[in-house]
Amino acid sequence: MENSLDAYGILNGTDKSSLNHDYLRHYERILEPFRSEPITLLEIGIFHGASLNMWSSYLEKALVVGVDIRPECAQYAGGRREVEIGSQADKEYLADLGRRRQPHVIVDDGSHQADHVILTFRTLYPHLRPGGIYIVEDMHFHAGAGAAHWRGSSDAVPQDLFLRIARLVSCPETEGDEERGLARMTDSIEFFWGGVAVRKRPTKNRADVAVRRGLVERANQPKIWSWYALHAFNNTGDLAEAVECVRRAIDLEPKNPEHQDMLSVILEHGSDPAGALVAAEDASRLNPADNRLKARVAALRSRI
Ligand SMILES: C[S@@+](CC[C@H](N)C(=O)[O-])C[C@H]1O[C@@H](n2cnc3c(N)ncnc32)[C@H](O)[C@@H]1O
Repeated sequence: MENSLDAYGILNGTDKSSLNHDYLRHYERILEPFRSEPITLLEIGIFHGASLNMWSSYLEKALVVGVDIRPECAQYAGGRREVEIGSQADKEYLADLGRRRQPHVIVDDGSHQADHVILTFRTLYPHLRPGGIYIVEDMHFHAGAGAAHWRGSSDAVPQDLFLRIARLVSCPETEGDEERGLARMTDSIEFFWGGVAVRKRPTKNRADVAVRRGLVERANQPKIWSWYALHAFNNTGDLAEAVECVRRAIDLEPKNPEHQDMLSVILEHGSDPAGALVAAEDASRLNPADNRLKARVAALRSRI
């Protein structure tokens, strides 16, 4: 307990501690790989500086950047703590902040207004480092009698957005969800009482992917070419390489609809719905009894 993040939280007086919201036992586990690393942690919402002090004393080498709308929060800068005065309602400021800071960890404990929380996630998450963590606190404000007060101009509440991303992460083929772009960046999502921690997909470096390609060449089995094609696309974004590899699977096993289906999935993710439809139709022709393939063809047709 003495050296736990919760102990630092109690000593510094943040409401994140077990005396109040009890978020810190989750954060200690989630942030364990960053404890001794020279990371940048960005927190929106400084108030009296309690959590900034907690983060900078617990994370031994981190640069802790606090953002608050109130100019008087500038007084909480010092040592490894930097303060910026800005609003999370300002999309251009957020985009610039993300570009300049490139954080490894982001904590949204700011206005808690639904439109701000959603705008901040959409704008800052793409700038979070691969393998980084994005935390949103106090989502329980968005349910029950007081929820309307926290809505702002948004039609949705933050948990709607995170639940949609969670659905796509666990089931990427979920049709017709415009959060696909955010989901593709996401490795996992963890919900806890009052909050969510979204882990961004780590990038495998191109060299790792190339080593795998050498192994796939040696194995030279259709299903392995097919798996590798999606792996290469997900990790490098190289559509041409992915298509070439899934075509190797098709050449080796032309009557297997799974490879045409994989080609269709890759082309769809690569923003080529027309190509995805042609491949899905080929897959469906190879296995006309498969209702899932039929439904996929119909869904792709409706989008073109
Ligand atoms: C809950 S307090 C932060 C508490 C602090 N993180 C801690 O644990 O000690 C919320 C802070 O968000 C700030 N805030 C409110 N609206 C904001 C906005 N639009 N942009 C940035 N900060 C905002 C408030 O000024 C307030 O200081």
